[in-house]
Amino acid sequence: MINKSIDLAAKILKNEGVIGLPTETVYGLAGNIYSEKAVKKIFEIKQRPLYNPLIVHVKNIPDIRKIAVDIPSIAIEIATKFWPGPLTLLLKKNPSVPDLVTSGKPTVAVRIPNHPTALALLDLLEFPLAAPSANPFGMISPTKAEHVAEYFKDKIEMVLDGGICETGVESTIIGFNDDKVILYRLGGISLEEIKSIAGEVTLVNKSDSAPDAPGMLSKHYAPLTPLIFSENIEKYFDQFKNKKIGLLLFNKTIENAPICSEMILSPSANLKEAASKLYETLHQLDKMKLDIILAEKFPEIGLGMVINDKLARASLNG
Ligand code: TXA
Ligand code: MG
Repeated sequence: MINKSIDLAAKILKNEGVIGLPTETVYGLAGNIYSEKAVKKIFEIKQRPLYNPLIVHVKNIPDIRKIAVDIPSIAIEIATKFWPGPLTLLLKKNPSVPDLVTSGKPTVAVRIPNHPTALALLDLLEFPLAAPSANPFGMISPTKAEHVAEYFKDKIEMVLDGGICETGVESTIIGFNDDKVILYRLGGISLEEIKSIAGEVTLVNKSDSAPDAPGMLSKHYAPLTPLIFSENIEKYFDQFKNKKIGLLLFNKTIENAPICSEMILSPSANLKEAASKLYETLHQLDKMKLDIILAEKFPEIGLGMVINDKLARASLNG
């Protein structure tokens, strides 16, 4: 099931099958956007509601024009800077893109992934790939082939193994209102980086009901173990002192903590490294049969904002 053959992956996709696809952000569940059979299967096995649209993955900027129309010049500017990379653009949809992929919306989400295996695969195909993150609805996103295989077992024919995802968090999603840039989901490209090209950026806050980008659902990416996210996790030590506690920390240990296990995401205090390890560490903590995971707040800058956002959504108190 886990396999490195790009040719085999291409063959399955040409036969309207669904595969686990490596990208630099997280693994996706990928199928031909023009195959109703493949796209329906993606929704079905992910247990994803049909109103929640999929991201279309293409190999280069000319291919974007087959998917989207009326692309604003600011979008081209931003895309040229960050693609291939962890950025998704919401653009006006080309009528040829099936409504099933976009859930009937007038926009389509597109990106060029920065992963050599994904790009080599797209090069062998005459169609783009629709791919949501390869996790069942509401669970932690997968950052290695084994996570995908564990989640879906024999429901998919193959997971194309591209190693560990380097970015480790999903793509940043932005849209456009005339010339205004709207950020719908924090991800692998930081808010500061987008601002450096776009100037002003409007942040759409998370909401529980019918969000424009349901990656903004406030409860998301959750481990099965209860998780508390706090600026001051020490205050919970007493409450859980006879319990099995897992700590999720940025760069250093907390003295005298009643820990069962402690995970430090970046001893050198590098937020990019911390983001790349976040989901893999949550997967690991979730397997340890802990009573509680206490996650500390990260510095609210750069990719720290993304980590905090994901942890808040994964938490009981978020
Ligand atoms: O990094 C990523 O973006 C990964 C990899 C596999 O590319 N994909 C991913 O897909 O995170 P997914 O489906 O888990 O999250 C995509 C988000 C969803 O919240 C979806 O609602 C939103 O993008 N989305 C997709 N198309 C949209 C559209 N036309 N309008 C608004 N939101 C859209
Ligand atoms: Mg997802």
